[in-house]
Amino acid sequence: MPVVDIKEMLQHAYQNGYAVGAFDLVSLEFLEGIIEAAERCRSPVIVSLAESHFEHYDFELLTTAAEAAAQRSSVPVAIFLDHGAGLDSAVRAINGGCNGVMVDASHHPLPDNIALTRQVVEMAHSCGVPVEGELGYVPGVEGEDAERHPGEISYTTVAEACTYLQQTEVDFLAVSIGTVHGRMNGCPELDIGRLAEINRALRIPLVIHGGTGLSDEQFRQLIENGVAKINYYTALSDAAAQQIRANTGAGPGGYTQLTRGVSDSVRAECERCMRLWRSAGQADAVLQSCTPWRMVEHLIIYNVSGIDEEQARRMAAEGRRILGQIPGVRHVLTGEAVKQDAKYRFCWLIRFVHEKVIDSYRDHPDHVRFADELFRPVAGDRISIDYELVR
Ligand code: 13P
Repeated sequence: MPVVDIKEMLQHAYQNGYAVGAFDLVSLEFLEGIIEAAERCRSPVIVSLAESHFEHYDFELLTTAAEAAAQRSSVPVAIFLDHGAGLDSAVRAINGGCNGVMVDASHHPLPDNIALTRQVVEMAHSCGVPVEGELGYVPGVEGEDAERHPGEISYTTVAEACTYLQQTEVDFLAVSIGTVHGRMNGCPELDIGRLAEINRALRIPLVIHGGTGLSDEQFRQLIENGVAKINYYTALSDAAAQQIRANTGAGPGGYTQLTRGVSDSVRAECERCMRLWRSAGQADAVLQSCTPWRMVEHLIIYNVSGIDEEQARRMAAEGRRILGQIPGVRHVLTGEAVKQDAKYRFCWLIRFVHEKVIDSYRDHPDHVRFADELFRPVAGDRISIDYELVR
């Protein structure tokens, strides 16, 4: 299962002088194109889901598809929440299958950015999930003309970056050094000197947003100065749109005719980036040096006493509702033995996204309340074991 720990993936890139593409997807065609590009280039890859795009697709469905695509691919993949607004978004992403999250509170004043980011870091780290924060402001909107959103760039300063890192403990930092989200006329001017200073001061993988439209030389300089993750979307969206326009020109056709070739056009652009950013050819080294992302099954088999079977079913339903909301819980299944004479009549199968959730789940107030008030008093006869899952 080549979903890998994204912190280790980006450390590898940072130490070996290349950057991993974090490509935003908005459809299955994008997902197929991105993964196919990574396979062809033997490159690690981050499939990224931006909260601003959630109005265009069902987040849980597309993340599940991304997870399935990652599991059957032969290159290391991470699944990432891009531009999450805060704690609720991060919990939803982690429970939905992302193994890395970004919290973007960069439009808030520094103390508020720090407070919000810190909240997300505490929760995510208790689930084993690394966090990207952003400091300084990168204007524009992915997929749109940059001049339609002419916000002022606010540059990241070295002093603020040091304070921010120390107080939030983010794993990666998105910096603002002149890039802009979206489609631009010409290249933006980048403050590479500032980037170099931030890199010398922080020594953690840095992230660039607004990758579309930068020159080959600019990418080279970014990577030379600590950028290990490059966020990229508008160019993929434009390549897909161009393909659809070409298909339209070929005469009347239905959906499948209109979208024919879209995943190939996304793939071609991703491949170009992977070779340019030198992540091409790194897949095997990353697989060897990074921990596979393994979920844990918290298994309980039990019998009840003092309540009847109908009451036991209601208790299980309440548990599915409450426990499924706890950070790091991928799903909660409950079951009843198929054979009446089984030694244990009932079970819980609670999927944790990471081994660390064993502790954070045990201590979470909602779990403690449910277990102490509803479950343990009636389920003294039980066996409980955590299993690490391998595919
Ligand atoms: P572009 O759309 O400019 O490539 O930026 C993408 C991005 O930064 C996503 O977070």
